[in-house]
Amino acid sequence: MTGGSGFIGSNFIRLILTHRADCEVVNLDALTYAGNKANLQEFEGDARYRFIHGRIEDPAVVREAMTGIDAVVHFAAESHVDRSIADAAPFIITNVLGTQVLLDAAHKAGVKRFVHVSTDEVYGALGEEGKFTEATPLRPRSPYAASKAAGDLLAQAYWETYKLPVMVVRPSNNYGPYQFPEKFIPVMVTNLVEGRKVPVYGRGENVRDWLHVDDCCRAIGLVLDRGQPGEAYNIGGESERHNIEVARLVVELMGLGTGVLHPPSSVLSPPSSDSWIDYVPDRPGHDFRYALDNAKIERELGWRPETSFEVGLSRTVDWYREHPDWWRPLKERLSRESRGFWTGA
Ligand SMILES: NC(=O)c1ccc[n+]([C@@H]2O[C@H](COP(=O)([O-])OP(=O)(O)OC[C@H]3O[C@@H](n4cnc5c(N)ncnc54)[C@H](O)[C@@H]3O)[C@@H](O)[C@H]2O)c1
Repeated sequence: MTGGSGFIGSNFIRLILTHRADCEVVNLDALTYAGNKANLQEFEGDARYRFIHGRIEDPAVVREAMTGIDAVVHFAAESHVDRSIADAAPFIITNVLGTQVLLDAAHKAGVKRFVHVSTDEVYGALGEEGKFTEATPLRPRSPYAASKAAGDLLAQAYWETYKLPVMVVRPSNNYGPYQFPEKFIPVMVTNLVEGRKVPVYGRGENVRDWLHVDDCCRAIGLVLDRGQPGEAYNIGGESERHNIEVARLVVELMGLGTGVLHPPSSVLSPPSSDSWIDYVPDRPGHDFRYALDNAKIERELGWRPETSFEVGLSRTVDWYREHPDWWRPLKERLSRESRGFWTGA
């Protein structure tokens, strides 16, 4: 496993170590600003879990981590679009070079299964209609998405060239516990806990397809076990929402709104909960809409998202309210950075 100390990776390791007694996990993670050992504190000292502190673009460390490994799930990445707009270089080093170093080491070590975690953002942006299928051409539009597309194509090339059994997954926007508080939903909840407004890009009209991290991890587990080598699998949440709808829902769930939830048709007619919303200048090149067609993963692996967005969001809001000790130090560090990376979805 790479990047297991981040958001999705730590949820995935928890799923494996809790439900799969036959598995041992090695977690190779650089503990960048987004990595946090506290995410997996309960497994420290567990004989089935080993942590290696190192970078995926370091061939010697990767060779060591790969020793005796059957399967790799590659989560490690620079993952925040806004940071990639400010400086793309770390994204190329980790997401492109790091992925190539890992693929190479996996090939040489004879690894039996390799899941590369890509993203829906590799497809680019949609208008009001349509969905991305796995056959949609890759048209990334941000430096983050371009670096992920490069990693995605390298992974596929290692299957075509060396028959390294690689499966690519392309999840949509995840949400849930342990997500770093620079991403859209944790920013909103933690700002409101602190009595501050929630920043929303532009008029909040952009659409994201929200996927609960538990559903995402379950899908990745299925692809790891039964996915076809050389194939890509979309993992969509089937929960498309305008950003402003999500913001208003969070305000309501925090008990700060009117008590009336607003349907999508009211996106442009602000309710009183908007007193908690701060409209900020839009992200350059902001992708309007992502939406994934899940037909392939449903047909081949029997996976569908199970968590409704309203239930998942309510549980997530509760988790952040109950875990200020987890997020407060991270937010304090971010505000010391004071570079304003705080509102991306
Ligand atoms: N979060 C989402 O909504 C989402 C959606 C689709 C795809 N993805 C992809 O899923 C993966 C995990 O995303 P996340 O949200 O958990 O990310 P995250 O930023 O929370 O975690 C990334 C982890 O990778 C580690 N890392 C970064 N650079 C590294 C390096 N060079 N060497 C070793 N470790 C390094 C970090 O320390 C951190 O633990 C990423 O590949 C991301 O592109 C995320």
